[in-house]
Amino acid sequence: MTLALPATDDTRIWDIWLSMYQVPCLTVALELELFESLEAKPDSAEGLAERRHFNLRGLRALLPVLLQQGLLQMHDGCYHLNEHSRTYLLKSSAYYWGPFYSRTARTLASHKLLLESINNEQENKAKNLPVDGWESGHVDMELARQVTAFMNCHSVASAAGMTRSFDFAATKRMLDVGGGSGCLSIALAKARPAVSCTVLELPTICELVRQYVADAGVGSQVDTVVVDMFRQAWPSGYDTHFFSNVFHDWSVETCLALAKQSHAALPTGGRILLHEMLLDDGALTPKPAVLFSLLMAMGTRGQQFTFGQLREILETAGFRNVSCHHTYGYYSIVSGVR
Ligand SMILES: C[S@@+](CC[C@H](N)C(=O)[O-])C[C@H]1O[C@@H](n2cnc3c(N)ncnc32)[C@H](O)[C@@H]1O
Repeated sequence: MTLALPATDDTRIWDIWLSMYQVPCLTVALELELFESLEAKPDSAEGLAERRHFNLRGLRALLPVLLQQGLLQMHDGCYHLNEHSRTYLLKSSAYYWGPFYSRTARTLASHKLLLESINNEQENKAKNLPVDGWESGHVDMELARQVTAFMNCHSVASAAGMTRSFDFAATKRMLDVGGGSGCLSIALAKARPAVSCTVLELPTICELVRQYVADAGVGSQVDTVVVDMFRQAWPSGYDTHFFSNVFHDWSVETCLALAKQSHAALPTGGRILLHEMLLDDGALTPKPAVLFSLLMAMGTRGQQFTFGQLREILETAGFRNVSCHHTYGYYSIVSGVR
């Protein structure tokens, strides 16, 4: 009954998808003359954001990508140009590639989106992104269908993987908060016939989850509850709260509010589990998480986190014994005990 483990992990497929955000990083950096700014004064993300009036969250996501691309170097907490950027990315150089990339930028929707994420003035402009619906609690069926299928693809292999690598023995009833297609609950239900799971989601998504659950044949173990996690009370009676790719959509403050809400709803000894693609300490590596974080800066209110950042959020909310386990592909689970 257990979902078969894929023949190989999904990291190659992730790498190909995430690679499409590499070019907009360069087109945006060129358009905003970031290389000229760092040539004039090597700086931290904070210093550069202040000097150029840029959005700090956006810049904190962009600069590590340029570092990973080998276009910048880091010394004493400041980003510096290197021979590649100095030779090809400064307007004053005879070998400048700017006009080439600015022509390329015109064909990229993600260029505009990233540019808006870095430019402070644009920060509050409605972009009609899924996160706008998540924040308001209203997602129409067409968008729900598209986004849920998208999430299902990127989570289903790691769902199969985590049921083997993470110890779910203590879990009897799991609330899968913002559970998307339900694929993580479905995988757990298949791996552990004694476990029951509830996918907590917005109304249109719950409707879709019921179909995914029926198709998987786990209707006796997985149900749904329509709850707007920001506005409505969470159901009780669960020993585990599971959040997969949920914290990465929100600010630290919102994540803390979610963690506190979870803490209040869990019984003593209950667990919170955060399934995320983690950044290394320092938040400058590894490349996939750095690129995924950039995508979060462009399309959500969030970012990828380091284990240390998630531990701080969970401990502030009152959780103890916070630990981290690599589970599958690029994914890990950070757990805390109430
Ligand atoms: C990035 S997706 C993650 C889906 C799934 N957990 C996964 O890893 O594949 C975030 C999910 O949070 C849900 N969500 C966002 N805002 C919500 C809200 N206000 N109440 C309940 N669910 C919400 C979305 O519908 C979406 O399915």
